[in-house]
Amino acid sequence: MKHDISFSINGERVRLTVHSHQTLLEVIRSELELTGAKYGCSTGECGACSVLLDGEVVNSCMVLAPEVDGAEILTVEGLSGDEELHPLQKSFIDHHGVQCGYCAPGMLISAKALLSRTSRPHEEEIREALVGNLCRCGAYADIIKSIQVASRARR
Ligand code: FES
Ligand code: FES
Repeated sequence: MKHDISFSINGERVRLTVHSHQTLLEVIRSELELTGAKYGCSTGECGACSVLLDGEVVNSCMVLAPEVDGAEILTVEGLSGDEELHPLQKSFIDHHGVQCGYCAPGMLISAKALLSRTSRPHEEEIREALVGNLCRCGAYADIIKSIQVASRARR
């Protein structure tokens, strides 16, 4: 079955016809060619596909595309301005929060949601916010440091 849907993604309105079985991740990557959100497990376990859906972190591999009709979505591509990286992105670069980088889009999205709720989170709060994001390179310590430094820079 097909559905006509419309939603906002990174501030731009889009209209699409999607199939009932298509996931938000498929639509974002294949139809909209925004390849920041990654396929990892495709079972809601790794967080590589994280995006913000109406301000909440979701695993886009677990959201069916018809469900996002009318929603606002932010992907990692929407974090930066046209010419400038988001402070979180800068901090990930400066403090080695990226090794292979596969988890980084999801980590950044979870960090963005955290800093929207809590301007200067404690380490425990950062760990809690990242509980759904796995890093196979084991770069957790540097990822946490990157988020801490970015949160201080925002003050
Ligand atoms: S790819 Fe979606 S949670 Fe792993
Ligand atoms: S930096 Fe490689 S998976 Fe996290």
